[in-house]
Amino acid sequence: MSLSILFALLFAVSPVVVSQHASVPSSTVASTSQTSSGASSFTTSVELSVEDLWDLYVGPVSTFSINTTVEPTPIPSSSLVPPPALYYPPFPKGQQVPLQPKNESWKFPKGFWYGVAGAAYQIEGAVKAEGRGPSIWDVLTHRVVNYVSTNDTGDIADNNYYQYKEDIARIAALGLKTYSFSLSWSRILPFGSGSINEQALLHYDDVIDTCLQYGIIPQVTLFHWDLPLFLQNTYNGWLSDKIISDFTDYARIVFNRWHSKVHYWFTVNEPIVFCGFYPLPANYFKNTTIPPKQQPYVCGHNVLLSHASAYHLAKSINSSLSVSFKTNGGFKIPRTDSQADAEAVQRAWDFNEGWFANPTFINGDYPTHLKDYVSGFLPAFTDKQKAQINGTCDIFAHDAYTSDFIMAPDAGIDACIANTTNPLYPGCYNTTKVYANGYWTIGAAGDPGTPWLNQATDWVPSFLHYMQDTWKPRGGIAITEFGISEPYEELRTNLASILIDPIRSNYYKSYLEAILIAIGEGVNVVGTLAWSIYDNLEWSQGYSVKFGIQYVNLTTQERYFKASAFEYANMFNVYLEK
Ligand code: GAL
Repeated sequence: MSLSILFALLFAVSPVVVSQHASVPSSTVASTSQTSSGASSFTTSVELSVEDLWDLYVGPVSTFSINTTVEPTPIPSSSLVPPPALYYPPFPKGQQVPLQPKNESWKFPKGFWYGVAGAAYQIEGAVKAEGRGPSIWDVLTHRVVNYVSTNDTGDIADNNYYQYKEDIARIAALGLKTYSFSLSWSRILPFGSGSINEQALLHYDDVIDTCLQYGIIPQVTLFHWDLPLFLQNTYNGWLSDKIISDFTDYARIVFNRWHSKVHYWFTVNEPIVFCGFYPLPANYFKNTTIPPKQQPYVCGHNVLLSHASAYHLAKSINSSLSVSFKTNGGFKIPRTDSQADAEAVQRAWDFNEGWFANPTFINGDYPTHLKDYVSGFLPAFTDKQKAQINGTCDIFAHDAYTSDFIMAPDAGIDACIANTTNPLYPGCYNTTKVYANGYWTIGAAGDPGTPWLNQATDWVPSFLHYMQDTWKPRGGIAITEFGISEPYEELRTNLASILIDPIRSNYYKSYLEAILIAIGEGVNVVGTLAWSIYDNLEWSQGYSVKFGIQYVNLTTQERYFKASAFEYANMFNVYLEK
């Protein structure tokens, strides 16, 4: 049934109002005595319960048989034996794998934090449990045809909502020290604002307490893409400046509740990516008249103001907290030494990292090339806003998976800038994974489902230097997500072959060696988080693309360490300064 029919039905009957409800605001209330020139000027106000939101916009969801919080099952000691390349079994004799030499000049400094990351919608499941309201991702997965190539949803995901104790115990058993997860905003505030769902707070209380019980540092992200649906449908979510006060109110709830237990906070995850979700698919959400190519930048503007507001609020609650956003990107390598490619590289920095990092780390304002574009439709930041935004990241938290060669568009940069229909507009730079000789790629490819991702660890030291020199983060740089999709892993049917993941193992080893090189050269890298704690819902790729250092059998919800988990953890055994 289409949403317009549902709405027509809804207006014809009195809405059922149950415990948690919200009134859909409207500027005009339709009335038979009024005349109007267009259908878009007919609006109404209607009361919806959380249950109504689910029924109208999402429909039925799946549940799993384990649907109460479970105590961790003991981790079999056999599953904690590293794979042979890292370990010499006493029997049988004769294994020829040479010992890995240690580079005695490398070290991760004391206090370096290392662990794994996950995100609410990708791992929690239990989407309707205990009062959670729907997010836009429940609609995208359930309703929008082909948005997820595999038609998967996050309904059950890794059932982390009930199995988190086991998940945290397993991180600790590997010897990792940090767990980074995100809160589901619509669990805590089912409508995004207003009534607070106490059950959600109790749940996250226990997730945090369980981390502390196992000696794991919890790191919390407030927003990892799962925007409460109600905020999207009342005022277009991040496209409206109304989000600033709603995000700040949400932040106030969580900072007040957990500031004494959680030191590291991330306000939002990868705004370059989630602002790029706009325009959302037509006909499933509230309409907007903002031109499609402008929408990501309107979103970004409101993200910066929301982040800055939450940052200052956090500091007013507890000045010792570390608060930043997580951004994402890779090193931008000029494909040739031409002037045009050098210009394209600068445009690529400005339209990616610089978009959020220049305002927060440099001067409260957008980088030059981006500003040239957005000044055509965004209000300039006032001096007061610039002062409010500048300095609001305590660390440079970067999700840095890969790198790209950058080049000028075939038509040339100027021609692209002059042509708003050029697919590369407004960035007007091009990217490739292939060296200028047209033969080799930058490094081993990930799964075909992630064409953006090749190993590019050779470029990591240069990238870290660039970040430190350009944005000078006072608290250093953290690689808050990195990892690779093992090619064709989803096709493997036998457990033993799934668990050996050589491309991912090599990626983590090479990447951490590259970080050790950069640290030795004076770059202040303070922590790393592997993406991901285990295989999970890879957004529009569903469960077909695997990023986990643990395999999850989605039928039984059993977890298994892959070889890469040991490779990753072993690097800290070897190189962490004691
Ligand atoms: C990041 C994102 C994660 C995860 C990862 C792998 O951009 O924050 O949620 O999906 O990419 O693609």
